[in-house]
Amino acid sequence: MTRTRTHRRWISPVVAAVSILALAASLAAVAGAAGAAGASGTAATEKAKAGKPKKVESGTATLESADDPKLSGTVTFTQLADAVRVVVDVSGVDKPGQHGIHLHENGKCDHDPAGKHYTSAGGHFNPTAAQHACREATAHHAGDFGNIEIKPDGSGHLTVVTAMLSLGGPNSPIGKAVILHTGEDDCKTQPTGNSGGRLACGVVEAAGGGGH
Ligand code: CU
Ligand code: ZN
Repeated sequence: MTRTRTHRRWISPVVAAVSILALAASLAAVAGAAGAAGASGTAATEKAKAGKPKKVESGTATLESADDPKLSGTVTFTQLADAVRVVVDVSGVDKPGQHGIHLHENGKCDHDPAGKHYTSAGGHFNPTAAQHACREATAHHAGDFGNIEIKPDGSGHLTVVTAMLSLGGPNSPIGKAVILHTGEDDCKTQPTGNSGGRLACGVVEAAGGGGH
């Protein structure tokens, strides 16, 4: 009893000091952000005057899995001249082989207590009202990235270049979600490719904020 009290009395000033430091740091961060916002606001105004709107040229999604915390992954979207390059890197996937991967229409990666995770992301992003297929097909959903091959060590890498996405305008992947599935996309079953459950999810966010 006495020991616990002594211990507490000793630790309290430390906790208090740490709290004050954390508070100071967050205040500094807020001040910094406000300064940065002010500065970029000015830059944006100058750019607008010059007739050059600020462009988003890349985005990133960080994948997370409700069922498998060791799974991790990133998906980057980079604007090219007339297309977007999508690069997927994942690791920690339990099951090697082909896994369907798509851009889904809603940027929501909600867990579901019943275990049917990420239904919040909705269906495949499909602004052209196309049929589901894989990317080799002439017509497919804009969100159809096909399959990523997971190696026996649980890692996978995929590059897709698609003219159906654009970082600006209605076909932007920003604010949508990438879903990695438990199974292989058969490239024909409507409208999902029968890719199984939703293993991992990540919302695509505009990268950097540098805007150059
Ligand atoms: Cu999907
Ligand atoms: Zn599809």
